[in-house]
Amino acid sequence: MARINKNTQSTNLVIYKQEKDNSMILVTGGAGFIGSNFVRDWLALNDEPVINFDKLTYAGNLSNLASLEQDPRHIFVRGDICDTAHISRLLAEHKPRAIVHFAAESHVDRSIHSPGEFISTNVNGTFSLLEAARAYWSGLDGDDKSGFRFLHVSTDEVYGTLGPNDPPFTETTPYAPNSPYSASKAASDHLVRAYFHTYGMPVLTTNCSNNYGSFHFPEKLIPLIISNARAGKPLPIYGDGMQVRDWLYVGDHCSAIRRVLEAGRLGKVYNVGGWNEMANLEVVHTLCDILDTLDPKASGSYREQITYVQDRPGHDRRYAIDARKIERELGWKPAETFATGIRKTVQWYLDNQAWVRDVQSGDYLKWVEKNYAARDTAQEQK
Ligand code: NAD
Ligand code: DAU
Repeated sequence: MARINKNTQSTNLVIYKQEKDNSMILVTGGAGFIGSNFVRDWLALNDEPVINFDKLTYAGNLSNLASLEQDPRHIFVRGDICDTAHISRLLAEHKPRAIVHFAAESHVDRSIHSPGEFISTNVNGTFSLLEAARAYWSGLDGDDKSGFRFLHVSTDEVYGTLGPNDPPFTETTPYAPNSPYSASKAASDHLVRAYFHTYGMPVLTTNCSNNYGSFHFPEKLIPLIISNARAGKPLPIYGDGMQVRDWLYVGDHCSAIRRVLEAGRLGKVYNVGGWNEMANLEVVHTLCDILDTLDPKASGSYREQITYVQDRPGHDRRYAIDARKIERELGWKPAETFATGIRKTVQWYLDNQAWVRDVQSGDYLKWVEKNYAARDTAQEQK
């Protein structure tokens, strides 16, 4: 196989892949935050090539993949998952052994302003991709057919919101999505499930909690706070800031996906989480404190920039993941603690200011204006 770079690794996995001539995977949305981390990690760990299929929306960025520019194992194709014919051509040409599906519209606030794009990509796009994958898989034989996998990357938000004393979400928690984003992801999860039950397609689904780490687009809480803090701008806290999220380092999410792809039981769902529930205000305080140490202001603390603003409509109060199934069945658990992961993340943003500047283009500024200008600054809360 010409695309195998023989200079890199020599593990058993690589020898197996090289013997299996057509072995490669197709990743959708691999130019976004989690997808690009997944592709870089994948190619750092083994030599199996990746076809990276991405529309390059505002959230997709080829500079996230700059380290792979000269790497023959990475094949980037710009395209839309709604385009079944395009995906079918790619599948016929490259014959991947698996599809890992990240592509989505992913920001809850944007789904409140423009829900249509979420239905188009997350629901119709997943449907188109499933149709192309079903036709391709149906035409495979023997080991190629039984070994094929379609891994759908989803979110804990499909389970809705928890009260302060509720147990964390398990894989059997009933779906109760509350935003257009989570409703569109729930619909895509149901389609994936239906393709297993109706057609016997070899699917796997992961429902993960909030990720953080490098290459996180600065519309989401953690990178937005780091970026605003350094720019001397307000640090916007929605409502009272006591909403709880379960934070997971992106590298841990990627290792969970690799493990589920490798050994997950067909048709099953695996919840992925960091066992790390924190209120938003605590996260923001932590970021300010790290910045106060790594990049201190001339005077005072970054905490002084905290500003309470009008809440997100329909804001889910608490998410928490029970990640015992993936640990029990597949032996996966997170390697990073929040303390270590968040420090590495802040350091990454300090070291990559050019990346931050580049992604904060005209369109980004328009989004910030749209999302934040209309929010009244609320009375400061203690
Ligand atoms: P992101 O917004 O950073 O990246 C999404 C990527 O998908 C971008 O590269 C974009 O160009 C691409 N894309 C969008 N529409 C497309 C289309 N129609 N066709 C092809 N490509 C398209 O998202 P992310 O945060 O990396 O999330 C990736 C996946 O993980 C999503 O499915 C999301 O629902 C899920 N997820 C995210 C988190 C999180 O905390 N970020 C947590 C759990 C699950
Ligand atoms: O739970 C998994 C989900 O996590 C993923 O499925 C989504 O794709 C991902 O975007 C994320 O959703 P959240 O809405 O939880 O993430 P976000 O970073 O937008 O917000 C985190 C919390 O911080 C949430 O309670 C809203 C709050 N927030 C967010 C922003 C952008 C603020 O208080 N101020 C802000 O400016």
